[in-house]
Amino acid sequence: MKIISSIEELRDQLRGQLRTAFVPTMGNLHEGHLSLMRLARTHGDPVVASIFVNRLQFGPNEDFDKYPRTFQADVEKLEKEGVYVLFAPTERDLYPEPQEYRVQPPDDLGNILEGEFRPGFFTGVTTVVLKLFSCVQPRVAVFGKKDYQQLMIVRNMARQFALPTEIIAAETWRADDGLALSSRNGYLSSDERAEAPELYKVLNQVADEVRGGHPDVFKLERKAMDALAQRGWQPDYVSIRKRNDLQPPSAGDLAQGEQLVVVAAAKLGKTRLIDNLEV
Ligand code: PAJ
Repeated sequence: MKIISSIEELRDQLRGQLRTAFVPTMGNLHEGHLSLMRLARTHGDPVVASIFVNRLQFGPNEDFDKYPRTFQADVEKLEKEGVYVLFAPTERDLYPEPQEYRVQPPDDLGNILEGEFRPGFFTGVTTVVLKLFSCVQPRVAVFGKKDYQQLMIVRNMARQFALPTEIIAAETWRADDGLALSSRNGYLSSDERAEAPELYKVLNQVADEVRGGHPDVFKLERKAMDALAQRGWQPDYVSIRKRNDLQPPSAGDLAQGEQLVVVAAAKLGKTRLIDNLEV
């Protein structure tokens, strides 16, 4: 595997490649990330991964400085997955001057749910993803459903800018007890880690009730948030949304069997976890 930090060298290395499959990450790689590498391999060749902890998508009080950085272990994992190039720019490589041009997602997608609780987050994500795409020039790029709203925003960006990159969705990889793998799980104490799968359980309960025809979406959301709060969580949202635009379903949507997803974000101690489940 070639490890490249400069944009120019990356371009030289990938020149003429027309089937590149790309997986952008922020490192601290786990099985979820590695499942994306494997999916990428079925969609293209070579597979290119990136590791870059993107300051633009962190709020002033978020965990940019303490975000786990485990570069050597990550390199070993990617070697085993047969990744051809790891693009690992420094901040100076990727942002040699202040990144003043930004990609702003539409308010009705970028400022709801995660965007409401993390102002500017999705602008940071789309800006770095567009820049990484411009460096790697992939034919396909793989994103996890774990970050459901991110996947949708990136996909819509690629469509609206007519980018030559197809966005592929990967299923969420979970631990045996149901907890979605995440770099932030490492922040959990052992008691919190034991409690953490409850988020996925609550999502399943909500999804079951929706499937069973429960008519009052708002009540279900409230009940789920209360259940989490009772157990010591601080939920930001548990919300039943339409899969196609992440807007709340109308009564008519529900009657017509609109495809739905339950999305949730909640803090357990100091750690903020997100998860979702397609109904
Ligand atoms: P990061 O959190 O490192 O995630 C990189 C990719 O792995 C994302 O597409 C994410 O959805 C996916 N992923 C994370 N956990 C997963 C799991 N348990 N199962 C399946 N896929 C999972 O998301 C980012 O980085 C950044 O926002 C990025 C897109 C790299 C832009 O900076």
